[in-house]
Amino acid sequence: MESSLDLFHIMKTMRPMRRLKPDDVPDDLLEEVLDAAVCAPNSLNSQPYNFIVVRDKVTKSLFGEKYDQAMRQRFAKYVPESGDNSALARNFRTAMAFGKHLPDVPVLLFVCGERDWPLAVADEARIGLAPPSYGSVFPCVQNILLGCRAKGLGASLTTMHQVFEAELIDLLRMPDSHGIVAVIPIGYPKGNFGPVTRKPSSAITFLEQWG
Ligand SMILES: Cc1cc2nc3c(=O)[nH]c(=O)nc-3n(C[C@H](O)[C@H](O)[C@H](O)COP(=O)(O)O)c2cc1C
Repeated sequence: MESSLDLFHIMKTMRPMRRLKPDDVPDDLLEEVLDAAVCAPNSLNSQPYNFIVVRDKVTKSLFGEKYDQAMRQRFAKYVPESGDNSALARNFRTAMAFGKHLPDVPVLLFVCGERDWPLAVADEARIGLAPPSYGSVFPCVQNILLGCRAKGLGASLTTMHQVFEAELIDLLRMPDSHGIVAVIPIGYPKGNFGPVTRKPSSAITFLEQWG
């Protein structure tokens, strides 16, 4: 019972932690998180994921620069008024500033997925490279985020790399067989893990049929 309550607490306080201390994250702690994360469900137990743990400053800086550019191109128009001090506006500013902090984050974890066409895509429509198998990788991604939270590590899910994925694949010397599903910056948090705010499930749940 106790551990179940703990898990619920972890789930309800697992927010993206974008303000991270520069302190090192020990290899064995990261390995403990990843060893648990790979227990996630995945199609046919194919376990189509690989991790690239990046601590190198040059790679983190290159990533940070591209990430920052991509965030600005995509979201600059949504930047809140300077007088807006709402939680949403503060969160937005932290998210927009994240790219500049990425070179100093202790670990950038690249979660890679083996490419595999979704079942719904017919053979004749399969042109070019398949996307990485998101469905089989995202449960593992969520486990990584939960595992980090449980161990007192701050982490956040990012997917902005999609805008410059081809360059990253070259930089990280990845084979064509794999793509990048998520990039998770990890470190010790500067702030507290506040509660997550979401609509209650009752507001989005139907009984028996939609509507
Ligand atoms: C598929 C997906 C992609 C995301 N990509 C990014 C990202 O690139 N950068 C980022 O800062 N947050 C990213 N997030 C985190 C969301 O922005 C965040 O969970 C959302 O704003 C809710 O914030 P909260 O959990 O603090 O309430 C992503 C979340 C998901 C589910």
